[in-house]
Amino acid sequence: MDFMPKRFYIQTVGCQMNVLDSELVAGDLLRAGYELVDSVRRADTILLNTCSVRQHAEDKIYSVLGRLKDLKERRPGMIIGVLGCMAQKDQHQIFKRAPHVDLVVGPGQLGQLPMLLEQVAAGGGPRIEVSLDRTAGSRQSVEQSFARFEPNRAARTRPAPHQAMVRIMFGCDKFCTYCIVPRVRGPEQSRPAVEIVDEVRRLAGDGCLEVTLLGQTVNSYQDAAEGQTVRLWDLLGKLHDIEGIRRLKFVTNYPKHVTTDLLEAVRDLPKVSPYLHIPAQSGANAVLQRMKRGYTVESYREMLGRIREMIPHAAITSDFIVGFCGETEDDFQQTVDLVRDARFKNSFIFKYSARPGTKAAERYADDVPESVKRRRNNELLDVQNAICLEDSQPFLGRTVEILVEGPSKVSRKQSADVQKVQLVGRTVCDRIVVFDGPHELTGRILPVLIEKVDAFTLFGRQQ
Ligand code: 5AD
Ligand code: SF4
Repeated sequence: MDFMPKRFYIQTVGCQMNVLDSELVAGDLLRAGYELVDSVRRADTILLNTCSVRQHAEDKIYSVLGRLKDLKERRPGMIIGVLGCMAQKDQHQIFKRAPHVDLVVGPGQLGQLPMLLEQVAAGGGPRIEVSLDRTAGSRQSVEQSFARFEPNRAARTRPAPHQAMVRIMFGCDKFCTYCIVPRVRGPEQSRPAVEIVDEVRRLAGDGCLEVTLLGQTVNSYQDAAEGQTVRLWDLLGKLHDIEGIRRLKFVTNYPKHVTTDLLEAVRDLPKVSPYLHIPAQSGANAVLQRMKRGYTVESYREMLGRIREMIPHAAITSDFIVGFCGETEDDFQQTVDLVRDARFKNSFIFKYSARPGTKAAERYADDVPESVKRRRNNELLDVQNAICLEDSQPFLGRTVEILVEGPSKVSRKQSADVQKVQLVGRTVCDRIVVFDGPHELTGRILPVLIEKVDAFTLFGRQQ
């Protein structure tokens, strides 16, 4: 019989953690002899890496699954797998809502995927592999059930060859009342520093210039394995020494743990981008308290002051949830005030989405009407966008240094033999820069003169 390549397609929704997981899953499957294809039509294994952080993300996956039903009826040998946070959250319910699903694999079991796919292909499906619920055993047994997944990396599956994400922590222990993450991603666990340094060294050897360290609360990183505790700032120092690495970033910060030590590392280590993503979530103390965020708006503002004093050129970004349970118009106006005063480089704004299994969904009524959530979302977005536009202006006529990430979406649609294409790059402060140039500039760090700006993009010319 002819050798039939096993072709898989993987669709990812959600955060950078999921993007990284998909990259690692894809690398693992390539090593197991699979072929990666870029459309559902060409695939015989379809994997959906899912997100549970908001209802909308889940609805999207169930609707994709609905559409895949007919396809599966026509091609019964096809394998459909649901991976990631939704797999952990909904577990067997996924088979109930979508009986044509063959595999449900939580974020703590992704390493088993090649084996599970083999079993399903051999007629052993459907299969489900998920981790223990957070209250289902001792801390140690729950931690162990969220198995670490850091297979060897394959440069081919990296979204951009010169940039890589590196996980330094798993899970979260903060239990903000609105958030499903601590349940679906398990207990907070830091990866040993030696392992991270090793991985970044290999990535540098592979041509990687920029590394983004990932953790749900990245700045609570703590590795005590070698007798001495290594914190995020120590780790940054170790990674800074690696030859070939030009830029280091880290996301997402928890406001309470933005220490002077961390800010000193950002200020003093030239490879560390002066870019800090520190979600505030709300500007009203009553709301922060119900969210169980563990800080007040005064202390958040004080922290911003400390950053501005130590690193005046730092770009700070934030996340906000509008319409959280019990949020009054006055609470919301305090969030508007915070956004106005803080002048974030950018804010990611979300309408509160009640997540079954969280404290907020159990304790508080989701009492802000959808129309009010929408209005508050738009109002806050308008305030932030106006700031973005104002703060882009000083870049006019300035030369900035960018790392070229590759062709823009527009030019990826053009034919490959066009000489000059539209390229996209980023400054150290994470500003997007668009300019024309040859493909070969991808992966270069170079100066660009800014000639035009809008709220989110700087347009320039190579110097
Ligand atoms: N509803 C809306 N937004 C949420 N986030 C987390 N949980 C929810 C929820 N239930 C937002 C937070 C977080 C970002 C990643 O997603 O702002 O920082
Ligand atoms: Fe969710 Fe809060 Fe943990 Fe962030 S810190 S992942 S918002 S529980």
